[in-house]
Amino acid sequence: MKIAIGSDHGGFELKENIKKYFEDKNIQYHDFGTNSNDAVDYPDFANKVGHAVVEKQYDFGIVICGTGIGISIAANKVKGVRAALVYDENTGQLARQHNNANVIALGGRTTPYEKAIKILEAYMNASYEPRHEQRIKKIHNIEKE
Ligand code: RB5
Repeated sequence: MKIAIGSDHGGFELKENIKKYFEDKNIQYHDFGTNSNDAVDYPDFANKVGHAVVEKQYDFGIVICGTGIGISIAANKVKGVRAALVYDENTGQLARQHNNANVIALGGRTTPYEKAIKILEAYMNASYEPRHEQRIKKIHNIEKE
């Protein structure tokens, strides 16, 4: 499994802690930045992670800003991205089961580290339920309008 991860300054600290968790678990990742607490623009990192995921270089992506809101909106503008802003284990699990989300968005200022790990584990341990395929297709048909 290889994961693409990126954040703005509001998500920087949580991103760094999630990276440590991946290192402990021997999970491969690539960090698309940012690399400090200096203020940056979250769409730049949503764009990088989103393209990396849809170009199939990664199994899924994680994007983090202060609330997860802005960076999830931006990630969903990349064609082929299904970014889910999740806030607990249940929504983490359902984002995979029902929506086949390929990007998970988290809020660095709203979701504590321990909670974020539980959410990511719920997402990673869940499987997509293909009965939702027609809805997923309809999401991507909107991109063609
Ligand atoms: C940056 O201050 C903040 O607006 C950003 O991290 C995010 O929360 C936007 O949705």
